[in-house]
Amino acid sequence: MSVDGDADPRHYVRLMDLARGGRDGDPAQYRGVFDTLAVVEGEHVLDVGCGTGGAVRALAAMVGGVGRVVGLDVSRTMVEEARARAANFAATVEFVLGDAHAMPFPDDMFDAAYALRVFEILGDPRRVLSEMARVLRPGGRLVVNGIDMDAWTIDSPDREVTRRIMHHACDAETNGWVGRRLPRWCKELGLTDVRVTPVANAFHEFESLYELVLRTFVESAAAAGVVTADEAARWVEDLRERDRRGLFFCSQTFFRVAATKSSRQ
Ligand SMILES: C[S@@+](CC[C@H](N)C(=O)[O-])C[C@H]1O[C@@H](n2cnc3c(N)ncnc32)[C@H](O)[C@@H]1O
Repeated sequence: MSVDGDADPRHYVRLMDLARGGRDGDPAQYRGVFDTLAVVEGEHVLDVGCGTGGAVRALAAMVGGVGRVVGLDVSRTMVEEARARAANFAATVEFVLGDAHAMPFPDDMFDAAYALRVFEILGDPRRVLSEMARVLRPGGRLVVNGIDMDAWTIDSPDREVTRRIMHHACDAETNGWVGRRLPRWCKELGLTDVRVTPVANAFHEFESLYELVLRTFVESAAAAGVVTADEAARWVEDLRERDRRGLFFCSQTFFRVAATKSSRQ
C-alpha cells in the first residue's frame, strides 16, 4: 500500500516480476481477463493499480492505434517503471499517478476497466469499485480479480498448524475476504450482468512460493504467537521434505468478477 515509502521501493518492482514469472507483458497471463472484458479495437480501457504495466502493454496490442489503455497507480516508483517499460507503446498507452479511491478522471470516460492483484490491499475496496463504475460509460464493462485468502490449500501433514498459519495470513491481509464480497458489492452498486469465475492456481514447487508469500505467512504467524517457533520450523521442513520428493502441492483461489454499468446509471 505504500511502495514509495519503503526503504527500497524497487524491492516491490522485483517482487512483481517474481510474481509474474519475469513476463509481466506476456498476454497469456491476462487472457482470461481480456476475454471476459471483451475489449474491441479502438476502445478506451483503464487498468487500476497497474504496477509495472505489463497488462497495459499486453492490451495495447489489442486495442490498436485508435484505442488507448491508461494505467493508474498510486506509486511513483511503479508509474516510472511502467513508463520506462512501455517506451515502444507511446501512442496507445498512458500511465497516471493517482489514488484509485479518488480517480483523477471524469465520469463516463472509459469503455472498460479492470483491476488485478490490487483489491486485497486497498484501504476501501468498495469505494474503488464505485470509482471504477463512475468512470465507466453507461454500458461499460469491468473485471476485478479478487483473491480470497481463506481459499488457499496446502497439502501439509499438519492440518491444524496449516489452518492457524493460513487463517492468520488471511486476517493479516488488508482485505482477506475481498474475493467473496465483490459480487455483492457489484449488485449493491447497481451494476448489472454480474458474473463470477473462480480461478485456482496450482503450485507444485515450494521454494519460489516460499520466497514469494509463504515465508511471510509463517514468519508473521510465529511473530504473532499463533504458532510456536518449533511448529513454524517443522511446518516449513515438512513442506520442503515433500518438495524434495516432488510431492509439494498448494493452490490459491481468486474470483474473477465481471459486471456492466447499466445504461440508466
Ligand atoms: C500487487 S501490485 C499489482 C500490479 C499489477 N496490477 C499486476 O497485476 O501485476 C498492486 C499495485 O497496486 C498499487 N496500488 C495500491 N494501492 C493503490 C491505490 N490506492 N490506488 C492506485 N494504485 C494502488 C500498488 O502501487 C501496486 O503497484
